[in-house]
Amino acid sequence: MTEITLDEIRSRVDQHWDAIVDLLSHKVAFAAVSAKGITGDHMRRSAEFVSDELRKLGVDTRVVQSTNPDGTPGAFEVVGSKIVDDDAPTALLYAHHDVQPVPDPSQWNTDAFTATTKGDRLFGRGAADDGGGIAIHAGSLLALGEDLGVNIKVFFEGEEEMGSPSFIPFIKAHKDAFESDVIIVADSGNWSDKIPSLTTSLRGNTAVDVIVRVLGHPVHSGQFGGPILDANTVAAMLISSMYDADGSLQIPGLKCQEPVGGLQQDIDETTLRHDAAVLPSWKLTGTDSLASRLWTKPSVSVIGFDAHPVEGSFNVLADSAAFRLSLRTAPSQRPEEAQQALTDFLKQHAPFGAVVEVKPLENGMGWAMDPSSEAVHDAQAAMTQAFGVEPINKGEGGSIPFIPELQKLFPQAQVLVTGPEDPQSNAHSPNESISLYGLRNNIIAEALLMRALAR
Ligand code: BES
Ligand code: MN
Repeated sequence: MTEITLDEIRSRVDQHWDAIVDLLSHKVAFAAVSAKGITGDHMRRSAEFVSDELRKLGVDTRVVQSTNPDGTPGAFEVVGSKIVDDDAPTALLYAHHDVQPVPDPSQWNTDAFTATTKGDRLFGRGAADDGGGIAIHAGSLLALGEDLGVNIKVFFEGEEEMGSPSFIPFIKAHKDAFESDVIIVADSGNWSDKIPSLTTSLRGNTAVDVIVRVLGHPVHSGQFGGPILDANTVAAMLISSMYDADGSLQIPGLKCQEPVGGLQQDIDETTLRHDAAVLPSWKLTGTDSLASRLWTKPSVSVIGFDAHPVEGSFNVLADSAAFRLSLRTAPSQRPEEAQQALTDFLKQHAPFGAVVEVKPLENGMGWAMDPSSEAVHDAQAAMTQAFGVEPINKGEGGSIPFIPELQKLFPQAQVLVTGPEDPQSNAHSPNESISLYGLRNNIIAEALLMRALAR
């Protein structure tokens, strides 16, 4: 295999740069919001676009609609391969083509589905998560052209943001499409736009719906308030009972872990405050390194709460209140176990004998990287070359639950988690964006990595 220098790869990426940005911009315009319906036409069109673009790069792709575990039609998935040499290793390239919703366009400074460049960043829903992942894979394939050296399989998922409900039946039905030596999951991100990272771990996730009941029906708050607390207050008491005075979770059975592979560098508090737009008065909760609090310790969030809206409220004690808790788990804890621990805790801490019902929702397992794998060394070397600085590896607090599922089926495959995001990407929030500098160097790093895998 002839050597391709870093400079050569860099100049090829430059040469194809407009096409790469164009592809990403077109992708944003599909508004592939899976929460609006995984089986919708907008999802099919998004998948077909991605499939067609990859086909232009010589990958034999197709769109396949998956089937849910209950037999109903599922997501539009893009699968394909480019086999160059039966003796060469095979890399599976993963990204997802579905995006998060845009509940309030007025919070955006630009139209969410019109890719807009400002300075070094390209704004739009899915510009980073995970259109950026698609752009990284497409860009590295464009740059390498016929000099790939490895066999490629691609899987661009259409329902990642919905927890991948049909993923397990899909991989079982298309085992061939996933069989590979190295799996590159481009759905995470870098330490910053200038400093690359491999993702060392992801948290797992689970959720429960909780209903708190106090009364058989609502009653006058003046007549009965005092010996009886309204269900909203009781729900708030139950929620706060999960925390100690530091704001650490105090739920027995929820596992905590130290950052996987050791902590290279802790997260800087000032940067975290800035990236998360934390109000100046807020005191960060919990103890130990910020990295462990963000990546490897559990966290619970109330992501929905049913109560009477403020406007139009009247003097009545609510008989019941409902809320949804999302629990992020330590990378190595089984989510079912964590869900049970949370459920037991809530039932045991029902304030003043309120009736607490807990309904279990979806579980997703976390993941931890094997720092000793050969692909990890190759990836770190490729990132160092491309960005001109050594990667700072980091965990992530988010979840990509299909990774452990794939790993179960292909235990010998080496998994690399990379991606287009950086702390300023605002994934899942208004004004999502991708760093173009980061994207360019992620593409170069992936191209270098594929050449390294080929050797
Ligand atoms: N790209 C994210 C995962 C992620 C989040 C990586 C933060 C790095 C940092 C992914 O698209 C995502 O949001 N996953 C969901 C999974 C859930 C629906 C099971 C998540 O974490 O909420
Ligand atoms: Mn994502």
